[in-house]
Amino acid sequence: MSAVPARPTFEHHREALGVGEAAPRISWRTTAPAGWAPAGYELEVTRDGAVASTGRVASPDSVLLDWPWEPLRSREAADVRVRVWGEGEQEPSPWSEPSTVEAGLLHPQDWAALAVGPAWAEEADSDRRPPLLRREFSLDRPVRSARLHATAHGVFRLEVNGRRVGTDELAPGWTVYGERLRCSTHDVTDLLRTGSNAIGSWLADGWYRGRLGFHGGHRNLYGTDLALIAQLHVVFEDGSEQVIATDGEWRAGFGPILFTGLYEGEHYDARALPRGWSEPGFDDAAWSPVRTAPAGAERFVAPQGPPVRCTEELLPVGVEAKGNGRFLLDFGQNAAGRLRIRVRGEEGRTVTLTHAEVLQDGELYTRPLRGAESRDTYTLAGVGVEEWEPAFTIHGFRYAQVEGWPAATIEPGDVVFRVLHTDMERTGEFSCSDPLVERLHENVVWSTRSNFVDIPTDCPQRDERLGWTGDIQVFAPTAAFLYDCSGFLASWLRDVEAEQLEDGTVPWYVPVIPGDFWTPPKPGAVWGDVAVLTPWTLYERTGDTGVLAAQYDSARRWVDLVERLAGPGRLWDTGVQLGDWLDPAAPPESPADARTDRYLVATAYFAWSARHLAETARVLGRDDDAQRYAALADEVREAFLAAHLREDGLLSSDAQTAYALAIRFGLLSGEQQRTAGARLAELVREAGGRIATGFAGTPVICDALTQTGHLEEAYLLLLERGCPSWLYPVTMGATTIWERWDSMLPDGTVNPGEMTSFNHYALGAVADWLHRVVAGLAPDEPGYRSILFHPRPGGGLTSASARHLTPYGTASIEWTLQGGEFAVTVQVPTGATGRLVLPDGTTQRVLSGTHRFTSGVLAADPVG
Ligand code: BGC
Repeated sequence: MSAVPARPTFEHHREALGVGEAAPRISWRTTAPAGWAPAGYELEVTRDGAVASTGRVASPDSVLLDWPWEPLRSREAADVRVRVWGEGEQEPSPWSEPSTVEAGLLHPQDWAALAVGPAWAEEADSDRRPPLLRREFSLDRPVRSARLHATAHGVFRLEVNGRRVGTDELAPGWTVYGERLRCSTHDVTDLLRTGSNAIGSWLADGWYRGRLGFHGGHRNLYGTDLALIAQLHVVFEDGSEQVIATDGEWRAGFGPILFTGLYEGEHYDARALPRGWSEPGFDDAAWSPVRTAPAGAERFVAPQGPPVRCTEELLPVGVEAKGNGRFLLDFGQNAAGRLRIRVRGEEGRTVTLTHAEVLQDGELYTRPLRGAESRDTYTLAGVGVEEWEPAFTIHGFRYAQVEGWPAATIEPGDVVFRVLHTDMERTGEFSCSDPLVERLHENVVWSTRSNFVDIPTDCPQRDERLGWTGDIQVFAPTAAFLYDCSGFLASWLRDVEAEQLEDGTVPWYVPVIPGDFWTPPKPGAVWGDVAVLTPWTLYERTGDTGVLAAQYDSARRWVDLVERLAGPGRLWDTGVQLGDWLDPAAPPESPADARTDRYLVATAYFAWSARHLAETARVLGRDDDAQRYAALADEVREAFLAAHLREDGLLSSDAQTAYALAIRFGLLSGEQQRTAGARLAELVREAGGRIATGFAGTPVICDALTQTGHLEEAYLLLLERGCPSWLYPVTMGATTIWERWDSMLPDGTVNPGEMTSFNHYALGAVADWLHRVVAGLAPDEPGYRSILFHPRPGGGLTSASARHLTPYGTASIEWTLQGGEFAVTVQVPTGATGRLVLPDGTTQRVLSGTHRFTSGVLAADPVG
């Protein structure tokens, strides 16, 4: 077998239809025999029937290579394939399968569409009943291909000739609409026909003008002008074209949705569905003309990541009949999504669905939802079996109550949990010999899925679901292992920059909802540091320097701001700081009152961000900046030590988070580091392994212990089951990561704090340590071009494994410890190399292929 390159991919797109990059970067993975090393490639493109090639390029690279040809034009498609040469090889590999990249509408002037919507929605407190929009058109020749480009003010769903377009949910997602409004592109060739056609759209408030945020929230955040902007490009068999765009010909009417809101839920009356409304021939005489306005195409952007979709369906694991048409359903898993029902009953009957994450005293417990009602209702048309799922709302829940059910039982398939989130590719797995740790990891995966819903949210259930910057800042390394979230986060980081204030302040959450305590935003550490640290995480995990370049200005403006705030003393000791948010010792109503001084946290983060900014500048070849910020980082470190390191080697906050940050952020040297490590380990032992860290300390404490030679204490923390600890929620039956260490108290009641979610990923950031340290799989060079395999068994575990789809291919590690014998198998993908550090400290370099080692000794030749 020789090398076989897989079909190329473009940027971070899962589906490269309607891309916004005129010169999309190209990557591919290669499968080849063990030890094969790439030395060259040839890329070939076919566009407009003409073929062009790069010829043989002498380079071992295969990740995010610059587009080597003329940029794509709007709507242009190109087929790209690749072949490769190995070191010393004269003959190339066979060509890969080709893959197609197709540009969307790249320029504002490509848009002929107007923004069209119902005139009645204009008023701020107008009737919130969602409209339907429609228009007919005819095509007089056979269609070769057709693309529908669309976006909306609000959320939308399109139909052509009675059939739904695509499977995206909650499109266009949530961006800073005034500056960035995302447009999607769909292939609708198969939905069209010669003759009469119709196109229709559902429209609803969504983030654009629905209620958002806590304490009652805000409406009409971006405007009141609910509108669809769509443009259908038809190419006929004979090469001619026709464009059907939203214009004054469209008509608006009411549909069956009486009300829908992201928090509130959806109310649907099936009797009010105008049957056939998105098909030709429907009588829309009673509908109104639409109001039209310019589309504002200069703010349109193409998606960088995948859309939200239903990715899985869950069936109830428990159905309890409560009498009188009332049932309590347990889906066995907390997640984000909504229910689909299948029901037969009399016309006019209403089925009500209520959602909650937990039960208390055998009933739904909805207090933690605060102002999010999370209730859907369906009123039957009475036309046989009716199937319904809400379209424009989403809930975070495990349990549901069904009321008004017409039958005596709920049969399998009658009520299904449709799990919804951004449809990212799963790239990481972990397992180990302790089932509780495995469940902890599974809970991290579910909290990732539940909170990657177009933006990285804090939680999926209550009246927030906001892009809290601190949460994703600490969690991004874990997420980037589990899922390919590079396009998703790169897009959201553009919004971070869009919302960044003139002076560099990064908001607490993005997009911003103005007008409460958190706005205008004030700068705060950990949260604001997302501007520097999250682009770096993406670079480290994918090798993408593009995200560093795109975010450089935003990152620098953040560090410059903190530098000004800290002043010549280099200590950031002012302002609103949430510090080690949710330290378990903080009172429930005051989560920022942690054991570690909030300003110690702020200065430690200042040093860490300055250091990363210097590194970013170095990677980007900005040498002056690299030097300047490295010097700044050194000065902040000095200032930190002068202010916080006492004579006896202890820190001014003698608390776990303080030591963990100082160690992990490289603020200590030699002896200082040893003393801090020893004290940290001592504090962990004194606490009996119970957790004593919040948002700032939790992601770093196990690494800090590992790094200072206290692996045993790291395992003590990991394996503790009492409250608070990582495994405590697992012992309480948790299926997701909780916001608080004790979101549910040991007596089974819900924490009385007004902020109590059961689905927040931040405290699950320990999974990154599980991957890198327990299993032992980490990037050694950006994008895993070199992979560090450094398993550190402990805590009585007898095995662990991790697997990650790197930009080069799958890397994996699997170790066992039996009868004192340690055995490990590692897999290095083609194009990468590995560095294996065995528990006894011996180091081996390994080439691509599969290798097995026992007790630190190479057992045999590579097996794969
Ligand atoms: C959110 C967070 C967030 C925090 C900061 C909470 O309401 O759910 O996770 O980071 O507020 O104040």
